[in-house]
Amino acid sequence: MRLNGDDLPIETAAKLRKRDRNRTTAALKAASFAMRAGRWHSGGNEMGRFATTAETYRRFREPYPAGFFALIAGRLALDGHQALIDLGTGPGVLALGLHPYVGSILGVDPEPNMLAAARNDAAAAGIELPLMAGRTEDLPADIGTFDVITIGRALHWMDRAATLPVLERILAPGGAILICGTSPVKDARNPWFEAFESVNLAYSARKTTGWREIYENWFTDTPFVEGETIEHEFTQMITPEALFERLLTRSSTSPAVLGDRTESCREDVMAALAPFFRDGPRTETLKAKATVYRRR
Ligand SMILES: C[S@@+](CC[C@H](N)C(=O)[O-])C[C@H]1O[C@@H](n2cnc3c(N)ncnc32)[C@H](O)[C@@H]1O
Repeated sequence: MRLNGDDLPIETAAKLRKRDRNRTTAALKAASFAMRAGRWHSGGNEMGRFATTAETYRRFREPYPAGFFALIAGRLALDGHQALIDLGTGPGVLALGLHPYVGSILGVDPEPNMLAAARNDAAAAGIELPLMAGRTEDLPADIGTFDVITIGRALHWMDRAATLPVLERILAPGGAILICGTSPVKDARNPWFEAFESVNLAYSARKTTGWREIYENWFTDTPFVEGETIEHEFTQMITPEALFERLLTRSSTSPAVLGDRTESCREDVMAALAPFFRDGPRTETLKAKATVYRRR
């Protein structure tokens, strides 16, 4: 739903927060202002890489399974009343999974194709999911507060200095920030993993695997302190073709980045994985993880 003739990038206003609709209106007005002022943008350069990953993201990116959402709900004692904001929502995978456990959800992302995918998936699931186009750093001052802030595989995209004050502002008293992700376990249960990642690195626009460092240090010397870790291990069947598609869902090896190297990348992935998949599809073991941060 569009709100007015200005073609604002706000998907729907109906359900930002069931218990406080006035805040919705304020937030949308502010979003409209920010958009007109040119502060919010729709990708381009680095972030625009996600434009070409949106379509396949939900199908091929490592998933968050239902058991993970149930576990989070239990650990955080979600009772259907909490307000949740999902920053860097992408196609809304976290937002849609946690939807049954909270009172309201707002998904935020600067990439229109990702928001379109989220909108489609929400509609297919019969869920009304309010979506807001924009960066976390630019969230309007009067957007209100949220009991749960989720950030899945997106924290590294956010400017730390600009994002921290936003998190301070929008986290409700007693609230929790969940930094989420899913990865294959790196042990003998996924013997193909190293071969796959070496092809990834050869083609990746990002010539580092320094994720751990970024994530470990992000909240150091901030008003937030690390709490519990919520982990859920699960399995799924996997094929070399699906792993190649997984590469395409990453910003650093998206179709936009690979360009005319896409076919050679596919060939290299297939060749590297062939020895591990001689007997056809195999079981992949993954771990979905949420690290919880709260105010000190
Ligand atoms: C890898 S996807 C993560 C999608 C989903 N949250 C998940 O856990 O799978 C990263 C998303 O972060 C978004 N993003 C990039 N920069 C951002 C920013 N500054 N603020 C909010 N979202 C951002 C991208 O557009 C992309 O959709």
